[in-house]
Amino acid sequence: MTISPNIPVIAIDGPSASGKGSVAQRVAAALDFHYLDSGAIYRLLAYAAQLQEVAWSDAERLALIASHMHIKFAGNDVFLNQSLINDQIRSEHMGKGASEVAIHPQVRAALLHCQQQFKQSPGLVADGRDMGSVVFREAGLKIYLTAAVETRAQRRFQQLITRGDHADYAVILADLQQRDLRDQQRPTAPLTQLPDAMLVDTTEMNIQQAVDMIISTYKKTL
Ligand code: CDP
Repeated sequence: MTISPNIPVIAIDGPSASGKGSVAQRVAAALDFHYLDSGAIYRLLAYAAQLQEVAWSDAERLALIASHMHIKFAGNDVFLNQSLINDQIRSEHMGKGASEVAIHPQVRAALLHCQQQFKQSPGLVADGRDMGSVVFREAGLKIYLTAAVETRAQRRFQQLITRGDHADYAVILADLQQRDLRDQQRPTAPLTQLPDAMLVDTTEMNIQQAVDMIISTYKKTL
């Protein structure tokens, strides 16, 4: 596999619980492309920091940890420095941690190259907040995937209940609103709909409809 500027990238950005992960994974599978879950990288950093008792506010030490992280994705498995880490990073607590460590410009800079390494032949689908604006500015197709915050809270609630976790809709809604604000208002790489990004609003759409829309748009760009 080679890294080249001609490798196609589909960048899918959007707020928490908009369905980005599921949509991006299905688009990648349908096109036989690689998939980058950039949120998992921020979650891994929050997790690694907690293990080393480094505060999520300590930008300098976080950036140091970030620059030494060796990350590997294999299907649904995530490895950090050769150890399998899955459920540990998928909790609401680590989601909050990810959103806190992600505000530091030093952290984002330290993780830039690591994310860009995922651009490999035959192509990449990357999901996050700044895939189209920072990490893969050259992406041939940029998508802004969103849904009404109440719909996103309902989906997250359902997801937690389904996996047997405790969930409180009002708490989830408040947490998503807070995360949206943090993502949109941070000075570095804020979440925003780029002028050259296509809006996909999944409030009234299921995952497969969003996937089909993205794939047909991608095919038209070829
Ligand atoms: O599913 P959810 O959006 O809650 O989580 P995620 O996509 O795994 O991302 C976790 C957190 O990492 C987000 O709330 C963002 O604050 C941050 N993040 C970011 O700043 N930039 C990215 N490219 C990806 C995630």
